Amino acid sequence: MTSLKLKTNIYGLVGEVTIPGDKSISHRSVMFGSIAQGETTVTNFLPGDDCLSTISCFRKLGVTIEESGGQLHIFGNGFEGLTEPDELLDVGNSGTTIRLLMGILAGRPFFSTLVGDESIGKRPMTRVTGPLTEMGAKLDGRKNGAYTPISIRGGQLNPIHYELPVASAQVKSALILAGLQADGVSTIIEPAETRDHTERMIRHFGGEINKDNHAITVKGGQKLTASTVHIPGDISSAAFFLVAGAIIPESEIVLKNVGLNPTRTGIIEVMKKMGAELEIVQQNDNSFEPVGDLIIKTSNLKGTVVEGKLIPKLIDEIPIIALMATQAEGKTVIKDAEELKVKETNRIDTVVQELKKLGASIEATDDGMIIYGKTKLSGGIVSSHGDHRIGMMLSIAALLCENNVELEQSEAISVSYPNFFSHLNSLIH
Ligand code: S3P
Repeated sequence: MTSLKLKTNIYGLVGEVTIPGDKSISHRSVMFGSIAQGETTVTNFLPGDDCLSTISCFRKLGVTIEESGGQLHIFGNGFEGLTEPDELLDVGNSGTTIRLLMGILAGRPFFSTLVGDESIGKRPMTRVTGPLTEMGAKLDGRKNGAYTPISIRGGQLNPIHYELPVASAQVKSALILAGLQADGVSTIIEPAETRDHTERMIRHFGGEINKDNHAITVKGGQKLTASTVHIPGDISSAAFFLVAGAIIPESEIVLKNVGLNPTRTGIIEVMKKMGAELEIVQQNDNSFEPVGDLIIKTSNLKGTVVEGKLIPKLIDEIPIIALMATQAEGKTVIKDAEELKVKETNRIDTVVQELKKLGASIEATDDGMIIYGKTKLSGGIVSSHGDHRIGMMLSIAALLCENNVELEQSEAISVSYPNFFSHLNSLIH
């Protein structure tokens, strides 16, 4: 475990950062490249620990994946090309890997076992094992299929008509991937719109998927064809610099190559509502995934309410939004965000606990948190608790602190942003 001494009392983050590849889309590029027919080339793939876990699992399932000249080449042979693994499939810390992989493996006629780290061992899997069992797959795990290790014996699947009890892109995507292998048309209904990278990826690989309001329909037995995938920058990674630029005095940061899929841009909506001087320049409305450059300047922020259908569009940004709220005038309320309790850590608890240590005025509620600003931050020893987004949020918080800050378990940041500190240091003059 690595403990890092962080920079404090910084004035002015100035410069340009090219945001690394999107984590959600990087996972899906490997998965779709593996189940399509032919050679898929991926550029700007995110080499974070989570996405490397996805590559390692697909290699164990018999897929050839090569890296050359910064590109990934995936040699897919359809769903039928996947073969029974000799070893355990280790997803590490990655919820997206395990949940989407379950959807793929549910339709494969072989046995496999999925394992992960301590955090994965606490995350609920019944939300996926339940509906996949209804489709005809045999899944099991600790506590009646609720927790890892998860074993799967897949086979012929029936289509499903399923209303998701929680707004989750991982569960939706698992069922879509199983639905692609089922005998008929599946319908999945979301309670609120979640990221649609799986749907976009299916179309990009020549498949068909329809959406009518919140109902998604997908036909089984489709053949997908290899493609070239250019991964846009991850808006969830950009969010740390967006907030840093807004709250640190005398800052101006240009963020290049940021994915602007409308199911992910909740952070931009909230920052604008809070009064941030944030500008979108050079937007490219590419049908696969829209991309643009963003400029953020130090801003006078005011508190706000973050709730309802906006939550899934910024679910991963809530830790950094909480920090932003400590530097906004007045009260900020985050509600309808119970899902935070089952992320890499219980993010209601870890955000509140760690920001309190730095002197923030923040309290936990049943479904979110309440933050009062604007508060000076002091310093001390904080921990990521092994959660990459908590680690990055605390590293930005440290820049505002008056005294020394030490971050424990800083290595977790490599899950989604391996060069986070070199990008951050390049902005400090
Ligand atoms: C993801 C979906 C979200 C998000 C996670 C990535 C995805 O999780 O928090 O970081 O790639 O589909 P849930 O589906 O659990 O909300």
